[in-house]
Amino acid sequence: MGAALQFSPAAAPGGPGPAVCEADRRHVWHPFAQMQEYLALPPVAIASGRGGWLTDTEGRTYLDGNASVWTNVHGHNDPDLNAALVRQLGRVAHSTMLGLTHPVGAELAAELAALTAGGLPRVFFSDNGSTAVEIALKLSFQYWQLTGRPGKTGVIALAGGYHGDTFGTMAVGDSGGFHDRFRTWCFARETFPAPHCREWAGRIHGSDMTASLAALRTLLAARAASTACLIMEPSVQGAAGMQLQPPGFLRAVAELCREHEVHLIVDEVFVAFGRLGSLLVSPEEGVTPDFLCLAKGLTAGYLPLAATLAREDIYAAFLGTYESHRAFYHGHTFTGNPLGAAVALENIRKLRELIGGGVLDGRIAHFGRAVGAAFTGHPHVRALRQRGLTAALDLAPAGGGVFPPGDRVGLQVCLRARDHGLLLRPLGDTLLLVPPLCLTPDELDQLVGRTVRALGDILPA
Ligand SMILES: Cc1ncc(COP(=O)(O)O)c(C=O)c1O
Repeated sequence: MGAALQFSPAAAPGGPGPAVCEADRRHVWHPFAQMQEYLALPPVAIASGRGGWLTDTEGRTYLDGNASVWTNVHGHNDPDLNAALVRQLGRVAHSTMLGLTHPVGAELAAELAALTAGGLPRVFFSDNGSTAVEIALKLSFQYWQLTGRPGKTGVIALAGGYHGDTFGTMAVGDSGGFHDRFRTWCFARETFPAPHCREWAGRIHGSDMTASLAALRTLLAARAASTACLIMEPSVQGAAGMQLQPPGFLRAVAELCREHEVHLIVDEVFVAFGRLGSLLVSPEEGVTPDFLCLAKGLTAGYLPLAATLAREDIYAAFLGTYESHRAFYHGHTFTGNPLGAAVALENIRKLRELIGGGVLDGRIAHFGRAVGAAFTGHPHVRALRQRGLTAALDLAPAGGGVFPPGDRVGLQVCLRARDHGLLLRPLGDTLLLVPPLCLTPDELDQLVGRTVRALGDILPA
């Protein structure tokens, strides 16, 4: 294995021009970063993008192996999305949804409602995944107050879930190291264990949801009367390291929630808009939740826009006179931004073509075969999980055990991948491959091949 991580900017080959570099070093506080470590690593400043590729200020080109944090769908600089954006820019860049509306926002709301076959016809816009989830939680809490059951205040969450970094989403999330220090300020919630499932190349190799559902049944039997909602990511828990659920799990949870009169909040922020092969995951599983949270791929990775979809009867409970104070007092300045809405509409139109023509399914099948062939039995890959266009490789020493955390093996592999023209982001010692949906089979092979080479450089067989 390579030596423990040691870099200094002076040792960094190339790197962005001095002005960018200096401004970044002096002023930018990067998200999810130990800045001391970030500042010691070779900087990469992205100047442009096209399709699945990004080019830095030094002219080096990289395959965008994490879809710019799981958002990119049709590639960067897509001519159709650009044209939709420019068309809307020529009309108006922003106009509020507080007391007014605009055509693209209304059209997008109707389009999203149609994706749920009318099951969730009411759309509350916001800006990002965390706000989409916060809104669902608040709507659920307020609904029970408005309908005479104010004691229903609790939340049940699937263990290992990640729903964002705001206080409400930290409270219902289960991301250990990310959020533990803020627990004091978060409201209490119950968790139930996630099911087990291993899958790649479309084949399930081990799956069991019995213990998980039994635990949920027990929890609901004891707590349903005081529980407002249950929140979960369906099918794949992304930030938990692409933990997979057996098919049918969401449906089983939905039935239990319905039976016990507990709202089901499905967080599709990561999995929707083609990531797993369909526009939405819940309808594929035959489930209409009470609330559905969307963000990330909603605008194909172009702009910050999110939506929380709700059932009609939930919406109706909020109606009344002004003095009744039944209104939902929540909003964000850029709620339902028209530029985001215009791109989202074009994104959905293009996705319908990609999915309807069978192209996306073909890419997913190709990706599954490629990762299966490259990493099954690999001496340093302890576990492989793949579903749709997403995969996780848990790295481990060939002889078993785990790497010392300070060796930052996952990060080392990702830094070496840059030398092979590939951008990846690790989660500890798990490598996450999340390509833009536009990658061709040849590009998907390049993604896998470059990962194999980077892995081999850092962890020779
Ligand atoms: C499932 C899920 N929910 C919510 C979020 C939070 O989204 P955002 O970062 O846009 O606030 C994420 C982000 O990764 C996510 O994966």
